[in-house]
Amino acid sequence: MTPDPVELLSIASDLARSAGQLLRRRPADLGVDAKSTPTDAVTVMDKAAEDLILSELTRTRPEDGVVGEEGTDRPGRSGVTWVIDPLDGTVNYLYGIPHYAVSVAAEVEGAAVAGAVYDVARGQLYTASIGAGARCDGVPLRCTSQADPAFALVGTGFAYAARTRAAQAQVLRSVLPEVRDIRRAGSAALDLCAVAAGQLDGFFEAGMNHWDWAAGALIATEAGARAGGVGGRPPGTWTTLVANPVLFDRLDELLRAAGADRVGVEG
Ligand code: IPD
Ligand code: CA
Ligand code: CA
Repeated sequence: MTPDPVELLSIASDLARSAGQLLRRRPADLGVDAKSTPTDAVTVMDKAAEDLILSELTRTRPEDGVVGEEGTDRPGRSGVTWVIDPLDGTVNYLYGIPHYAVSVAAEVEGAAVAGAVYDVARGQLYTASIGAGARCDGVPLRCTSQADPAFALVGTGFAYAARTRAAQAQVLRSVLPEVRDIRRAGSAALDLCAVAAGQLDGFFEAGMNHWDWAAGALIATEAGARAGGVGGRPPGTWTTLVANPVLFDRLDELLRAAGADRVGVEG
């Protein structure tokens, strides 16, 4: 049976909200551990949120695949794969900065068909299903039509690996004088929703993982943006770029001139 994106979106929305409710119960001891680098933190709450989502999917969608940041890698038989970031913005969460999210995407044949990003502190749910537009709490979203990089407010983020960060700093040095300003808010999933909502004109980041952008990129594209990799590369480990189609091309040019097409997970 062909998976129904609207039904998948309803599941994604419920999962993102439930995990968000769990994250609100922030314990005094977050049980912080390090992952890929000493500053790539994981807390007991990242794991608890992923466990909650996985156990719910195991109960209701046992045939689906599930990939989650905290180690879930369950192959499926139905053609649907869930791509989950149970807590996007862990460093914000760690410091009590109220800007973090749960990101849940449903993919069919490698392409997202439904995505939900729950902004936990604000209690706002961003959603999209393929061909049906993007919404925040039911209100339709549209990205900006800003075409001039000089007037573009551009979001970005930095990887955890020092080598990649050094390369990202070099790119930023060239890009910063060419744009209105830069924002680094600490949650890639929410950055992509901000592009969808017109709160940012564009976003770029190198070295992201699939779960960082799977839901947010669908939300942004359903709001009229284009999502792809700089210099024609695929989005993801290299530099991902999201903006309205005209600005996309102009930022792509700027970013390539700054060497961003050569920056990825390994710097
Ligand atoms: C991180 C955030 C951050 C981005 C990093 C991500 P995490 O995700 O989205 O904004 O710059 O690249 O890894 O570790 O908080 O899930
Ligand atoms: Ca993330
Ligand atoms: Ca995470």
